[in-house]
Amino acid sequence: MTRTVRILMNGVTGRMGRNQHLVRSILAIRQQGGVSLPDGTVVVPEPVLLGRNPARLEDLARAYGLSLWTTSLDEALSDPEALVYFDAQVTGARAEAVRRAIAAGKHVYCEKPVASDLASALELARLARAAGVANGVVQDKLFLPGIRKLRRLVDAGFFGRVLSVHVQFGYWVFEGDWQPPQRPSWNYRREEGGGIILDMFCHWQYVLENLFGRIRSLVCLGATHVPQRWDEGGRPYPCTAEDAAYAILQLDGGAVVQVLSSWAVRVRRDDLLQIQVDGTHGSAVAGLRDCCVQHRACTPRAVWNPDVPKDHDYYADWSAVPDNESFDNAFKVQWELFLRHALGGAPYRWDFLEGARGLQVVEAAYTSWQERRWVDVPELEL
Ligand SMILES: NC(=O)c1ccc[n+]([C@@H]2O[C@H](COP(=O)([O-])OP(=O)(O)OC[C@H]3O[C@@H](n4cnc5c(N)ncnc54)[C@H](O)[C@@H]3O)[C@@H](O)[C@H]2O)c1
Repeated sequence: MTRTVRILMNGVTGRMGRNQHLVRSILAIRQQGGVSLPDGTVVVPEPVLLGRNPARLEDLARAYGLSLWTTSLDEALSDPEALVYFDAQVTGARAEAVRRAIAAGKHVYCEKPVASDLASALELARLARAAGVANGVVQDKLFLPGIRKLRRLVDAGFFGRVLSVHVQFGYWVFEGDWQPPQRPSWNYRREEGGGIILDMFCHWQYVLENLFGRIRSLVCLGATHVPQRWDEGGRPYPCTAEDAAYAILQLDGGAVVQVLSSWAVRVRRDDLLQIQVDGTHGSAVAGLRDCCVQHRACTPRAVWNPDVPKDHDYYADWSAVPDNESFDNAFKVQWELFLRHALGGAPYRWDFLEGARGLQVVEAAYTSWQERRWVDVPELEL
C-alpha cells in the first residue's frame, strides 16, 4: 500500500532548508518512490513550502514542479493531511513555530539547535511528550561516512582505551567587503541567534556522546576575531557574536577532548572537519567522508631532532578505512528514520530531549567563557 503524507517545510528558501532538506532529502525520497514503514506501507512525502516571501516560494515550487506553498503558518497547520511540521528557519524563529505545530497535533522535526536556549528546548520537549507527537532534531554528522567509520572502529574495539580526541572545525568565511560571504549575516549577530558556540556545540555534543561517552565538564573561551562584516545587501555591520571558540572537555571514562571551532582560520588539514582520536591500541583521523588509522603495531619510533632535515613522511604511516557500504546523504538517512518513527512507530533516538542536551552543552560553554571557569554538565531530565 502506498500513502501520500504532506510535510510542512518552513525555512525552505534558506541554505539548509532548500539544499539538504527539500532537494536532497524529501524530493530524493519522492524520487526513489518513498519510505517503507515497518508494516510494509510505503509513504511518499509531499512537501508544502512555508516561508515569508511569496515570490521566492513560488519560484522554488516552480523550479521543482511543486504546487503547495503558503506564507501562512496557521493555514498550513490547519491542513489535516499535513502530519509532519519541519523547521529550518533561522534559529531564533524556531521555538514559537514549533510550539504552534505541537499545539496543532503535528509530528515535529527540526534543524539544530531545537531552540535558542535550554529552557525553551526543554519546554518544547515537554510539550511534544504531553501532546504525544513524534519529535526529532537533525543530528546529521552521525550519518556522515567519516563519522560512521569512526563508529565502526569504536565498535570493533580498535582504539583500546580512548585517551584524547582533537576536533578541528572551520574555514575562512569571507567578510563580505571584497568577496561575498559564504554564510548568512545573522550567524555573526548574537541578537539574531548567531555565534559559533550556539551553531556548533550542539553538533559536538551528539558526535562526542554517541561515539565516546557523556560530557562531564568543559572549559571554553570564545572570541570575535573579525569585528566587522558586510551583510547580504553589502552594508557593513558590527559582529556581536563570537566567530571562534576554543574548548577542552572531559568525558566519562577520562578521555580529554580539545575542540577548535572557527570561521576565521585557513584550512591546511585533510577536511573542513577533522577528528583525531588517540587510544592505547590505535589512532584514527576522520574527515567528513574519509578516515585513516594507525595501529600501535605500525607506529613508527619518532625521535625529536630539529637539527637534521625531516626525512620521514608521517602521513605515509596511516592506512585508509574502506567504505565497505554505500553512504546516502546524511540528512536523507535521518529523514527516513524520522518518517518511519513518526508514521510507522519505529524506534528513534534523536528526539527533542537529545536536542536540549546539545543546548545544555552550548550554555555550559557560554557560562565557562563568561565566568572564566570549568563548568560541569550534569544529566538532563524532563
Ligand atoms: N545541520 C547542519 O549542519 C546545519 C548547518 C547550517 C545551519 N543549520 C541550521 O539551520 C537553520 C537555518 O540555517 P541556514 O544556514 O539555512 O540559514 P539561512 O539564513 O540560509 O535560512 C534561514 C531561513 O529562515 C527564514 N527566516 C525566518 N525568519 C527569519 C528572520 N527573522 N530572519 C532571517 N531569516 C528568517 C528565511 O526565510 C530562510 O528560509 C539554523 O537553525 C541553523 O542552525 C544546520
